[in-house]
Amino acid sequence: MKELHVTIQRFDPKKDKAPRPESYTVSVHEGARVLHILHAIHDTIDPTLAYRYCCGSGQCGSCAVRVNGEPVLACMEEAKDGITIAPLNLPVRQDLIVDLLPKIQQIASLKPAAAGREIRLPAKAEIDEIKPLRDCIECMACVSVCPAMDVTKFLGPTAMRQEMRLALDPRDTGCRVPDAVRDGLFTCTSCQACWKVCPKNIQIPGKAIEKLRALANKEGFALPRHLQVAALIKETGRSVVRTAPSFMEQVGTIIEPYGPVKATVGFFVGCMYNLRQQQS
Ligand code: FES
Repeated sequence: MKELHVTIQRFDPKKDKAPRPESYTVSVHEGARVLHILHAIHDTIDPTLAYRYCCGSGQCGSCAVRVNGEPVLACMEEAKDGITIAPLNLPVRQDLIVDLLPKIQQIASLKPAAAGREIRLPAKAEIDEIKPLRDCIECMACVSVCPAMDVTKFLGPTAMRQEMRLALDPRDTGCRVPDAVRDGLFTCTSCQACWKVCPKNIQIPGKAIEKLRALANKEGFALPRHLQVAALIKETGRSVVRTAPSFMEQVGTIIEPYGPVKATVGFFVGCMYNLRQQQS
């Protein structure tokens, strides 16, 4: 057994105006997980501690919390001395329990074809594409860290993951691309935060959001600004409008060194340095 000192962010909406930290000392066995700390506190110190769990083995997603600020599954995260355990960054109902229902209800379900209509099963190649998107356990860790959801009406990473998963499935008859565009597909910042915290390592930005955006472009859902940039590239080979002499025109194609030559290096200026940031 080992003794650990931990802090838990407690909050009882009936008594507390704001969350408060509470310190505990517990004994857990070697190899214990954060969930074992919560069990120990609940069983031996304070039975009012509220937290969620079900499978205890990283399969149901119900035990997600923040440990030292990072979203993790309590049942998979190693129990260490000195840690702080807090709820996900979502509306808190009590202690470590957050309100998941509104987010879960926004995740689309498969819309089967009407009775009597022929349904094609996914082919092997389609299954291979669907598979990485199917592993979600709806722990909402991704949703709790998405910056776009704080400032736009973006429905969030796992909602987009599901739209793409269904867009790939021939049994589904929903309008996945228009729905994704309506729900903020183009407001995702591609920051990758959702992928970094996903306990199932689902690459939502690359495997769902970028692919949905490609489909949206093909289906004519591109934003007006995207169309302007695409037209400019076709017309001029550049993504920005010329407003002043370019960097290359100002310095020439060969830049001589101030001292003796030590090596030859190439400098790729791209559109921005060449036409927008010539002084940088
Ligand atoms: S209790 Fe099921 S994932 Fe942790």
